[in-house]
Amino acid sequence: MAVIQLESVVKSFGSVKAVNDLSFEVDGGEITGFLGANGAGKTTSIKMLLGFIRPDSGRVLVKGRDPRLAATRRLIGFMPETAHYYPYLKVHELLNLYGGLCGMSKAEIAARSGELIVKVGLTGAENRQLKTFSKGMLQRVGIAQALLHDPAVYILDEPFTGLDPLARIQFRDLLLAEKKAGKTILFSSHELSEAELICDKVVILKEGRAVWSGTTADVAGDGTQNLERVFLRMLGVAQEEEAL
Ligand SMILES: Nc1ncnc2c1ncn2[C@@H]1O[C@H](COP(=O)(O)OP(=O)(O)OP(=O)(O)O)[C@@H](O)[C@H]1O
Ligand SMILES: [Mg+2]
Repeated sequence: MAVIQLESVVKSFGSVKAVNDLSFEVDGGEITGFLGANGAGKTTSIKMLLGFIRPDSGRVLVKGRDPRLAATRRLIGFMPETAHYYPYLKVHELLNLYGGLCGMSKAEIAARSGELIVKVGLTGAENRQLKTFSKGMLQRVGIAQALLHDPAVYILDEPFTGLDPLARIQFRDLLLAEKKAGKTILFSSHELSEAELICDKVVILKEGRAVWSGTTADVAGDGTQNLERVFLRMLGVAQEEEAL
């Protein structure tokens, strides 16, 4: 059953058509990778899935419901492309704040944030203010924040960006464990190898349109053997690459 649905979605900013008649679905319990060049419309689509902006036309649904409803938003764990956290907070203070907004009890927040700080590798940094954190450390905070309220659906905008190789492997395992627990995951990425490793399906976006969507098994059966080649072909640069 489709948990995330975009139906003929259009969104323009002035003369720029950021998303142009985009339709795709993410089934329950699956991981879908959302790929595309810079400016392809990934973040715009994700913002509509979170109810931050409205489509000009078409429909966006999460678990069959409008994402602008607070009850729908509570089902979603979200990681923004660029997070702007309060710089003077420490990681557990930030998680307290988010947990409170999600309606979690103090005891629940304490138990879950303690576990997540270890899971995302921020042990030892608990007493530092977020303004002192490196890019990858802030990315880890974002992961902890998205996971905090144990949501049924994850919508993550470039979650792998800035992670070191070990953190990347740990995060990959974490997403696979969440999938095993029945969660539905959509993440945007420029990391084609990550997408190929963990996704059930991928959607490739070009100029706001889905130019390719299918399973990672389809990629292997596509005759081009890897996602990078499919990606380049869909962006219209494969022939140049092959000529190299
Ligand atoms: N608030 C805005 N005002 C004007 N144009 C915008 C706005 N947000 C996005 N756009 C434009 O919409 C298009 C899609 O942008 P979007 O951020 O969705 O791309 P993206 O696929 O997430 O790219 P990236 O990989 O660089 O993050 C771009 O041309 C961008 O300039
Ligand atoms: Mg983006």
